[in-house]
Amino acid sequence: MSKGTGIENLQHETRRFPPSAEFIAQAIAKPELYQQAQTDRLDFWANQARELYWHKPFTKTLDYSNAPFATWFEDGELNVSYNTLDRHVLAGRGERIAIYFEGENGDTRTYTYAELLAEVKKTANAFASLGLVSGDRVAIYMPMVPEAVIAMLATVRLGAIHSVIFGGFSAESLRNRINDAEAELIITADGGYRKGKVSALKPAVDEALADDSCPSVKNVVVLKRGGNQVGWVQGRDHWWSDVVDSASSEHEAESFGAEHPLFILYTSGTTGKPKGILHTSGGYLTQAVFTHKNVFDVHPEKDVYWCTADVGWITGHTYVVYGPLANGVSQVIYEGTPDSPDWGRWWQIIEKYKVSIFYTAPTAIRTFMKLGREIPDKSDLTSLRVLGSVGEPINPEAWIWYRDVIGGNSCPIVDTWWQTETGAIMISPLPGITSTKPGSAQVALPGISIGIVDEEGKKVTSGGGYLTINEPWPSMLRGIWGDPERFQKTYWSQYPGLYFAGDGARIDDDGDVWILGRVDDVMNVSGHRLSTAEIESALVSHPFVAEAAVVGATDETTGQAIVAFVILRADQVAAAGSDSDVSKLLRDHVAKEIGPIAKPRQIMVVSELPKTRSGKIMRRLLRDVAEDRPIGDVTTLADTTVMDVITGKLAAGATD
Ligand code: WT7
Repeated sequence: MSKGTGIENLQHETRRFPPSAEFIAQAIAKPELYQQAQTDRLDFWANQARELYWHKPFTKTLDYSNAPFATWFEDGELNVSYNTLDRHVLAGRGERIAIYFEGENGDTRTYTYAELLAEVKKTANAFASLGLVSGDRVAIYMPMVPEAVIAMLATVRLGAIHSVIFGGFSAESLRNRINDAEAELIITADGGYRKGKVSALKPAVDEALADDSCPSVKNVVVLKRGGNQVGWVQGRDHWWSDVVDSASSEHEAESFGAEHPLFILYTSGTTGKPKGILHTSGGYLTQAVFTHKNVFDVHPEKDVYWCTADVGWITGHTYVVYGPLANGVSQVIYEGTPDSPDWGRWWQIIEKYKVSIFYTAPTAIRTFMKLGREIPDKSDLTSLRVLGSVGEPINPEAWIWYRDVIGGNSCPIVDTWWQTETGAIMISPLPGITSTKPGSAQVALPGISIGIVDEEGKKVTSGGGYLTINEPWPSMLRGIWGDPERFQKTYWSQYPGLYFAGDGARIDDDGDVWILGRVDDVMNVSGHRLSTAEIESALVSHPFVAEAAVVGATDETTGQAIVAFVILRADQVAAAGSDSDVSKLLRDHVAKEIGPIAKPRQIMVVSELPKTRSGKIMRRLLRDVAEDRPIGDVTTLADTTVMDVITGKLAAGATD
């Protein structure tokens, strides 16, 4: 079932880390939460929703009569931007720091809540002056700088819908997403700092829009950040400073219905075309706020919080922008990569800002573990008190290292399972309540109902199966942009009435959940989600390639790594050159088509692919090759000698 996350054998973990008496005494989350949610789940969520500011209070909690399409708090009205900013300023918290920005190049800036609000108001006025109105889509393709957050909040303040596209995606990926969302406005920058260099963003926008290939786009706003020379289309392109600086800082937030669309975020599915996951306002914000506060034990008046995710991913949406700001906490935003100028950078940032809550991904932890504790040991990390993990299973060894070396053997670790689709955390320990267990995400949060089922959909009470969500939850996706059928088919057709997450999971004797990784054709590379079909279609778009099959092979650092098998077109073999030439060329081609994150670790040129009699590629066998294991059962192959041909050629040393 698992694609080899390597943790399936480690579930006999007996180590337990109960919370300290000191932690319990000050913890935000109290054990009664579970009881309250158990007694009346809907009442529990309604109470959480009342923590927000509603321009018009809701009277209905959930309507699921048109399942799987749910509405939450439907007759209520709110403004999400107002909840993240105005509210704090009006309550006298305007002088609190909202953002400590640390540029990779050493620039620093801080924004108080009052300053951030003023910037968001100006930016909302600027966007409105470019014609943006409620319901319009805005594509945001930015470096990790405060203006990315400002652009998101200004968009939703107007009731418009953002679609943030990670800066590492190519022009081609950008174009597909802009067109699918039919975005009218694009927000980008002349560059951003990454790994000591200035990356380019505007050229990708220009390429995406060339030859009128994105007819919906009317305007492009460009932030000056990197100082790159940029191409310019008069009338379409505007400098951020030209439109924002002169705009008024007065802007009253209008209220929108709780089910008003908030954002679209594209993520990879099992087919070639990324899905535009749609989230709406009231339910999403309710669960973002509840989970952020309780899972990370946020005390906004004294904590300094840092989530290392980019706003291009769902983690950046929920746990950099919406949760933390609505909770009024002070947070660090860092523009660059952990190795710039050296591997000490993150730990120096924690020391500098006295970060107390830190949220990152297992791939980073494993990388630091390999580099050795000498690096983090150089910094004073004693301000830390809660550590979070997200994006992929964390192996117990990395978990223990994280707790010991980063957390000084005293910080609770919260391993949080969720997805772009779930909008917010679903399974996680609660610090101050749960005795944590290395490697397990453990239990569903209060108000969340999950299950593990077998192939037939029967509930599994011990052992392995498929992870499902049994009841609608406030921050659930409301659909796939423009494709309601795909929404039903992808998530709701496997097990009637249950949401199918696409992950394998196991439940142990204590009732704790262990996530085993994806069971579909989705890979998880460094916590980034990529589909095999998407990379295969990028490969076959190259004239040299006749056929391609992609698998995710277990990788010690990145969790999974992309390995591709390609068959060259017979008439192109000579032009393609040596296997290693063609492999390099195709790796670069994938980076250009999708983005550098999708670049295969390895490409193997083969003459055949293993297929069943019905023509389906048997990826399981290719994974055996990629992971250098004996080849499994080949009896269902149409041609049982194919694997001998493949392994024979590879053994002859003809790989990249
Ligand atoms: C997939 C969702 C949720 C934000 C980041 C990724 C995997 C996520 C965990 C975890 C084991 C995890 C799952 C999931 N995943 N968190 N704590 N333990 N696996 O969001 O890109 O939508 O990917 O990430 O496989 O389905 P995403």
